[in-house]
Amino acid sequence: MEKMVNVYFFGKKYEVPQSLTIMKAMEYAGYQLVRGCGCRNGFCGACAT
Ligand code: FES
Repeated sequence: MEKMVNVYFFGKKYEVPQSLTIMKAMEYAGYQLVRGCGCRNGFCGACAT
């Protein structure tokens, strides 16, 4: 079973799988990324994380 970690989005705590990127963690938590989300593959640098 994958290890879960705590993350905070907009002041709210979520438990997400450790292997996720920050953007995938946001989607896992229920957020929908509709703009300003870059390439999502580690190429463009837009996410800066
Ligand atoms: S969105 Fe992160 S590198 Fe492109």
